[in-house]
Amino acid sequence: MSCEKRLEGKVALVTGGARGIGKAISARLAAEGAKLAIVDIMLDVAQATADEFKAQGVEARAYAANVAKFEDAEQTVAAVVADFGTLDILVNNAGITKDTLMLKMTEEMWDAVIAVNLKGTFNFTKAAVRPMMKQRAGKIVNIASVVGRMGNAGQANYSASKAGVIALAKTTAKEFATRNIQANAVAPGYIETAMTEKLSQEARDAFLKVIPAGRGGKPEDVAAVVYFLCSPDSNYVTGQVINVDGGMLM
Ligand code: NAI
Repeated sequence: MSCEKRLEGKVALVTGGARGIGKAISARLAAEGAKLAIVDIMLDVAQATADEFKAQGVEARAYAANVAKFEDAEQTVAAVVADFGTLDILVNNAGITKDTLMLKMTEEMWDAVIAVNLKGTFNFTKAAVRPMMKQRAGKIVNIASVVGRMGNAGQANYSASKAGVIALAKTTAKEFATRNIQANAVAPGYIETAMTEKLSQEARDAFLKVIPAGRGGKPEDVAAVVYFLCSPDSNYVTGQVINVDGGMLM
């Protein structure tokens, strides 16, 4: 049996990589040999995460960026290419929620979630495709959500932003297919992280009732599918959405 690491030498940029699902994705990509650019608005947490990886022998660096800012994306990608020499993999994972029913949702709540989740994904995709085009190879994975496919009461802003990142993955796939850049989306269901810790016990129980697998997902469940979409095994897979949700949405 071969012990070859499938992503040896590849450079992966993970937004929101400091904790939660982004950290698990970073860990999985690093376990397969990738070098890591951990990008987060919380630089201290991102630095601690990068240091954890470095202690395990992984080449990792932390970068401070607000994905919602166009110039942060341009500057961060330029810094990553300067530091590592290239960029092979982009995972658009940074995301926030500001939940409430539509009649109570303020303009600020709408704008904040769209800016981070949707515009942030556009910003980093646009910046990252340039080095990928140069080397005629690249992998982009947008972290969406099942609510981007089915809607969710109390999440008008969030579900619209996640439907948007699905459409962005498909558009990226179409615009850059001939450059050998594959873009796909992963739609997690209910995953146990700091984001879902905020939910009431009632809301969590409601989720568990509609998950055929009978359990919440782990960040590692999402990371495994993201790894597949970053590996050579998915070179003929582009513009797709894969749910990682224990069967919640079929
Ligand atoms: P989390 O809150 O634990 O981690 C999100 C990370 O993104 C944090 O490190 C945070 O500092 C960073 N971040 C937030 N705003 C940022 C900005 N403007 N610029 C740069 N970094 C920023 O959340 P979790 O649960 O790990 O979520 C990761 C992704 O997975 C998000 O896109 C989320 O919408 C998505 N997701 C999560 C689900 C869940 O059940 N936890 C379900 C479906 C999707």
